[in-house]
Amino acid sequence: MKSPPLALYAHFPWCVQKCPYCDFNSHTLREELPEERYIDALLRDLASQLPEVDVQPLTSVFLGGGTPSLFSPAAIGRLLDDARAKLGFVEGIEITLEANPGTIERGKFAEYRAAGVTRVSLGAQSFDARQLKLLGRIHSADETRRAADELHAAGLENFNLDLMYALPGQTAEEAQADLKAALALHPAHLSQYHLTIEPGTLFAAAPPVQPADEIVDEMLDLSLQTLREAGFEQYEVSGYARSGARCAHNLNYWEFGDYLGIGAGAHGKLTYASRGFAVRTQQTREPRRYLAADPRALTRKHISIRDLPFEFAMNGFRLVEGFAEELFEARTGLPNSVLEGALSSLLARGLVERGRNRWRATPKGFRFLNEILVELLPETEASATP
Ligand SMILES: C[S@@+](CC[C@H](N)C(=O)[O-])C[C@H]1O[C@@H](n2cnc3c(N)ncnc32)[C@H](O)[C@@H]1O
Ligand code: SF4
Repeated sequence: MKSPPLALYAHFPWCVQKCPYCDFNSHTLREELPEERYIDALLRDLASQLPEVDVQPLTSVFLGGGTPSLFSPAAIGRLLDDARAKLGFVEGIEITLEANPGTIERGKFAEYRAAGVTRVSLGAQSFDARQLKLLGRIHSADETRRAADELHAAGLENFNLDLMYALPGQTAEEAQADLKAALALHPAHLSQYHLTIEPGTLFAAAPPVQPADEIVDEMLDLSLQTLREAGFEQYEVSGYARSGARCAHNLNYWEFGDYLGIGAGAHGKLTYASRGFAVRTQQTREPRRYLAADPRALTRKHISIRDLPFEFAMNGFRLVEGFAEELFEARTGLPNSVLEGALSSLLARGLVERGRNRWRATPKGFRFLNEILVELLPETEASATP
């Protein structure tokens, strides 16, 4: 087991208004944003987790939410300056800020850029006024267009647009129109998420009618074709990028790298290479409690030797290019042989393929990723039991 690259995830748990489909740790902001206090808490959190890691320059930072763009560029800059001082940044580091188009005033992106942000992920979701209303979004399609113009003007060309599909009553043509409207804004990266009904959300209480599977398949086929024609390559289940614009932070998750997770409800993953194990960390979810809490209250959970291969493969198979056998051994400290049984069975079923010491899902396997995961779970549990 070797020390993997180290990234930083910081969570910002407030939104102007909670969307009815969303089960992220995000809360409607009902009072003034406790900006200074929250950044102070993030800095304390980072300081208290530092002894857990081999100090090394961060390979990426992701400021996610909730809605981090509710925070001022000065506040974001304070966090980034502190992280740089404590850990350092690799040359050309990717620093992503998630932004809601309804929270962007003129000139704000230029200030985020000056504060150190190098990439923005904008939650467009749809360009259809009816859908935006149904989804409880606080912005119009024109506000998304204005935010994209601001990104180009600020020199932040490296931006992502989040789109959702399989929306209530949506036709394949409407999903195409959304995609084309997104591409017209010249993003470098596009994330397309199938709208899922998550337990505990307003949509779970009153589920909207979503399009039938055949229509969703047609949406996916059409979108892949349109994205290819526009110069985008699919590199992950939901991720499409122009050349050189893949998201380094998400790649680090899928390649089973390490990341510190700070902020309310943030998750992290840390490897103790010399001691041969890895842990998952989680912070207190509720923002008020997080603000009040001792950051040392972080919970840690061992990733057991039985779960390691499954967790690694679950991430690796999300990538179109799959994973290298060498990476499996480096990240888990286990020989490839622990995956052998499951992989040969998946190979026989035509769900995965092997080439040049790499494993990846076949196009069929990629569509039925869950089947791959189910196959991996019992096998790895059986074979890795000490
Ligand atoms: C944390 S949010 C992004 C940033 C910002 N909060 C916003 O919504 O503009 C991450 C993305 O996850 C996607 N998402 C959230 N809930 C989802 C769900 N139930 N089904 C599919 N995608 C979802 C949305 O596309 C959203 O932009
Ligand atoms: S989708 Fe984004 S804006 Fe909506 S509640 Fe979730 S985190 Fe907040």
